[in-house]
Amino acid sequence: MEALRMPHSGPRKKRPRQMGASVASPPPDIKFRDLVLFILEKKMGSTRRAFLMELARRKGFRVENELSDCVTHIVAENNSGSDVLEWLQVQNVSTSSQLEVLDVSWLIECMRAGEPVETTGQHQLVVRKDYSSDPSPGPQKTPPLAVEKLSQYACQRRTTLNNCNRVFTDAFEVLAENYEFRENEVSCVAFLRAASVLKALPFPILSMRDTEGIPCLEDKVKCVIEEILEDGESSEVKAVLNDERYQSFKLFTSVFGVGLKTSEKWFRMGFRTLSKIRSDETLKFTRMQKAGFLYYEDLVSCVTWEEAEAVSMLVKEAVWAFLPDAFVTITGGFRRGKKIGHDVDFLITSPEITEETEQQLLPKVINLWERKGLLLYYDLVESTFDKLKQPSRKVDALDHFPKCFLILKLHHQRVDSSSPGQQEGKNWKAIRVDLVLCPYERRAFALLGWTGSRQFERDLRRFATHERKMMLDNHALYDRTKRIFLQAESEEEIFAHLGLEYIDPWERNA
Ligand code: CTP
Ligand code: MN
Ligand code: MN
Repeated sequence: MEALRMPHSGPRKKRPRQMGASVASPPPDIKFRDLVLFILEKKMGSTRRAFLMELARRKGFRVENELSDCVTHIVAENNSGSDVLEWLQVQNVSTSSQLEVLDVSWLIECMRAGEPVETTGQHQLVVRKDYSSDPSPGPQKTPPLAVEKLSQYACQRRTTLNNCNRVFTDAFEVLAENYEFRENEVSCVAFLRAASVLKALPFPILSMRDTEGIPCLEDKVKCVIEEILEDGESSEVKAVLNDERYQSFKLFTSVFGVGLKTSEKWFRMGFRTLSKIRSDETLKFTRMQKAGFLYYEDLVSCVTWEEAEAVSMLVKEAVWAFLPDAFVTITGGFRRGKKIGHDVDFLITSPEITEETEQQLLPKVINLWERKGLLLYYDLVESTFDKLKQPSRKVDALDHFPKCFLILKLHHQRVDSSSPGQQEGKNWKAIRVDLVLCPYERRAFALLGWTGSRQFERDLRRFATHERKMMLDNHALYDRTKRIFLQAESEEEIFAHLGLEYIDPWERNA
């Protein structure tokens, strides 16, 4: 098991661009030797291209007549990202992995400035996936710029947090949530899948042509895309955001311990605000909901990376007090490189773990926090794990490991850092924490299962079932053809068993 990784070390310095070996040294009037430009004639026309090439050369830029492997910047006009990628694919030139595909607006800004200006998302027709948060050692990975057909499975796509189709994915997620609230699972899944696939797209969708060949885009999804492209917004999304039921469910489910059933009940009873619910004397609340209301403000404000780090120290300190050689790994969104989360998830295991320590560890940890006054809420779930049982067939099945859902009191590092709205003199914040404990030989499966995202996990299981006749869950991988359990010491081995390319945690933000 890896130690806790640090996905937030600052951005790496870019390596200097490598020039193609085949190219002779540039002529002396070139001022900016790190850049090699190629201007695409397609849809720009030869006259304008010749004009721009001439202008750029006069300003000291190196501009190639032909596309070659030394080109670092392709400039296009009236083309979408997919247009350029399509064109590139038939050129039979192996382009640099650092290749930038830019709109002509970038070149024009350079001409105005008399020097290269920084390329931003506004210029980039193809957004290079951001590997700057790559926490793994070794050389920085940059995949070749190729138009690979996107798979319908999230586990065959690389989905970083660099989403260049947010206008669409945000809209889809609102619609999916509304369908979830209305228990229309089919439509909910359709919009979740569509959002997930667009998050992996390396370019922003600019026209309906860009959606051709992308999987998981049903007609009703395409209608929403079309409307957003035309009007800048979707009338359906707007209606949902203004819908009383949606607004109420959104509000009610924001309370820890409140799900669809409770929301439905409160909505039917005519409740529309939390304050009315809170102060109603006829309603009965679960222990979880009571904690949810008590720490509401803290729990709705997201957990930051710094807070997750501080919680990580607390968890390690407590676990190591009873099991000094335990591995404590952050999982969930923070392991995927997210900067904020709704909770902090941890996986705990140890090569020395026995059935007895397994039963006692979490109660001991809870007891320690209780004595220290750090425990605000806990729900301890005992193990129901059976190592002979085959993995679950359900995509959303819960696992059987011992676990604990907690709310911890995290004291602020600095006492004076009270933010507005904070209770007078309150020097702590309530934080949701999930702890899972697993047998050492199951750590790879548990780590893969608890790293998420949910959509990524669902598609891994769907892929295993439908493409490989295998069954995967948080405990094990079972090959139904060979009728054996496949062992794994690492996540890489599980991907290999499934015949999948390895996808790093920060590429699982599907
Ligand atoms: N998970 C699970 N069993 C549960 C709860 C969660 O296997 N009982 C898995 C989910 O599949 C998910 C991961 O644990 O992939 C993390 O869950 P969660 O904390 O809900 O989501 P995050 O991705 O961490 O997002 P957030 O930042 O909102 O916490
Ligand atoms: Mn989480
Ligand atoms: Mn969680």
